[in-house]
Amino acid sequence: MTFDIVTIFPAMFEQPLAAGVIGRAIERGVLDVKVRDLRDFTTDRHRVVDDVPFGGGPGMVLKADPLFRALDAIEADRGQQLTVVLTSPQGERLTQESAQRLSRQAHVVVLCGRYEGVDERIRQRVTEEVSIGDYVLTGGELPAMVILDAVARLVPGVVGDEQSVAADSFSRGLLDFPQYTRPARLSWPGPQGAADLSVPDVLLSGNHADIRKWRKREAVTRTLDRRPDLLAGATLDDEEQQILQELQNGRAALQKGKAG
Ligand code: ADE
Repeated sequence: MTFDIVTIFPAMFEQPLAAGVIGRAIERGVLDVKVRDLRDFTTDRHRVVDDVPFGGGPGMVLKADPLFRALDAIEADRGQQLTVVLTSPQGERLTQESAQRLSRQAHVVVLCGRYEGVDERIRQRVTEEVSIGDYVLTGGELPAMVILDAVARLVPGVVGDEQSVAADSFSRGLLDFPQYTRPARLSWPGPQGAADLSVPDVLLSGNHADIRKWRKREAVTRTLDRRPDLLAGATLDDEEQQILQELQNGRAALQKGKAG
């Protein structure tokens, strides 16, 4: 998969694209990411990319013409109709589903906005506007990296272990079960003094059926406790459905007991 990122801060992408899973995927050629400096698409001596807003007001607005020029250059380079994502707090919220949809594209352009705004006329070339959450960042560079990371890890061959991508939290609408690794027994002082931090026995039992069942129960419990909103869109197997029913019945009985 190929990404073109258009930004006024290309340096912000150097380390994130060099390290970790994404860095390795680029090295192996599974992923191709080209970071383009918006200033290279200006025509004036001072390489100006922003200007004051018409009508007055604080802040600066990203100029439309360097962005149009950048998109024209990318289109000429790639020789195809572009999918253009603009990062913006006004956009549709990024979800696992939208990441999956974008990961099926062979090529995506990400335009990094500025929090003060982008000249509205660029929107005629934008396929979708994406927000990474209901908070405001200083610019679109971190959102662009978040979008790239969420999308790229779904591209076959980027993450080594395809199974872990398929099983991950959110792809089925359930939160992850708790994970532990060695050592099995650990004692560490906590807020209430020394605490025995042993790993749940079932995980050491070697009984794979019990482990699977325990993990399902934990995942469903966590989702019910922390993100019950996810359950409406979750795809649960029969066993998980039954666990959810049991938990919900148990809680309903508890509520009734309290009320009565
Ligand atoms: N630019 C500033 N804040 C943003 C956000 N939350 N998502 C996407 N782009 C942004």
